[in-house]
Amino acid sequence: ATSQNKMTLDFDHATLTINKNIYGHFAEHLGRCIYDGIWVGPDSDIPNINGYRKDILEALKELNIPVLRWPGGCFADTYHWKDGVGPVENRPKIKNYFWGGVIEDNSFGTHEFLNLCEILGADPYVSVNVGSGTVEEMVEWIEYMTSDEDVPMANWRRENGREDPWDVKFLGIGNESWGCGGEMRPEYYSDLLRRYSLYANLYGQRKFKRIGCGANGTDYNWTDVVMSRAARHMDALSVHYYTIATGNWGNKSSATDFGEELYFSALKHSLHMDELISKHSAIMDKYDPQKRIPLMVDEWGIWTDPEPGSTPGFLYQQNSMRDALIAATTFDIFHKHCDRVQMANIAQMVNVLQAMILTKDDQMVLTPTYHIFNMYKVHQNATYIPVMLKCEDYKFGNETIPALSGTASQKDGKINISLSNLNPNESKTIEVDLEGAKVKNVTNAVILTAPQINSVNTFENPDVVKPEHFSDFRLKKEKLSVTLPPHSIVTLEIQ
Ligand code: AHR
Repeated sequence: ATSQNKMTLDFDHATLTINKNIYGHFAEHLGRCIYDGIWVGPDSDIPNINGYRKDILEALKELNIPVLRWPGGCFADTYHWKDGVGPVENRPKIKNYFWGGVIEDNSFGTHEFLNLCEILGADPYVSVNVGSGTVEEMVEWIEYMTSDEDVPMANWRRENGREDPWDVKFLGIGNESWGCGGEMRPEYYSDLLRRYSLYANLYGQRKFKRIGCGANGTDYNWTDVVMSRAARHMDALSVHYYTIATGNWGNKSSATDFGEELYFSALKHSLHMDELISKHSAIMDKYDPQKRIPLMVDEWGIWTDPEPGSTPGFLYQQNSMRDALIAATTFDIFHKHCDRVQMANIAQMVNVLQAMILTKDDQMVLTPTYHIFNMYKVHQNATYIPVMLKCEDYKFGNETIPALSGTASQKDGKINISLSNLNPNESKTIEVDLEGAKVKNVTNAVILTAPQINSVNTFENPDVVKPEHFSDFRLKKEKLSVTLPPHSIVTLEIQ
């Protein structure tokens, strides 16, 4: 029987690039993301390179991380950068008011972050303190990080052991300024954005992409007001959107203990990203029809209840097969909107929310989400091939979502296709029409699936959800037929 599931690749309109920064990350001074996650300090018994955990560095390098956002999040608008430079023993111990009230010893500061970016080959994205900081503090930080002249802050950097400036590409002007970053109204924030942006450009000698603080999810008015009042004063605008399985922030539900109902609703909520981007982008079009200002989804991912027994303010959660599907289908959406979406930063890199890696003492485990970032990295900076996907629905109760999701790109003479089957109970066969591609062979095929929708990798069993070689496909002339098992994601390379 022929399948009702069909995907057609539109090679005639393959003109746009999938910006590699869509595969960006976010690391905040929150819970065990920085301390215990990335950074253990040079005196730790845990194997490290100058204080960075060796195992974590190796695992992260594999992902080709293009950009890394730091130091927050909410933490950024309480952070005073001077606390985190100079001899470690002289750095003040401060309280992390937003996240668990823990004592922050500032042993991970500007040098440690920017050096990490150099090790990973990632562009730094520094979020400056607008909520409780000053313009003066920001411009001094800019001078410290990026000036090669004989000026006070650059000289202080040299005294602290770093001769050359770092190459900082992105500067966030405030984080969630409508909430933890200052409880501002969009009108007021727009004025601050204009003011901070002016001095960021002056002291940064126009080197930065200045990212304006964007909306809280569906707050379209925020985007409208900030675009109408400050479009000229930014180089990009952000937006934050988290998937909450229940749709209720007060009762998010468990990361692991869920059945099909919460599996379905989590996917439905995460697929909402498509409409969200379309609507924000349409508003931006009014003020920026040329699409000069990209939309940066600089916080996204699933947010569940914390793991039982963990400190609540640390946002430590497990990561399941469901989260892998959320990651894959979200990337499919970002690709589709690559004309406007040019950066995204998963929240967060290690041990927090939808993390790539979890650690316990000297152990680490790679999550299902890590594996999706690895399988999808072939799409970084590739040419997007628009896809037309017609597929069955996946029904649960009275609601439906598409059973399949897919995306395609080409680079270096290769076509990469990623496909997901969201249906947890049935395999699905899909016919992919490659007419015009002149392809001959599938040269690589990888699948990520798991025994259950809530299967996880643990320190005891780290390989429950792991990419495997995949062979359930047929390529005949320019027709590719793929059979996807329930709850699975496949990436095929064709040439
Ligand atoms: O990622 C966790 C928090 O979520 C960030 O600090 C904040 O920006 C958002 O509300």
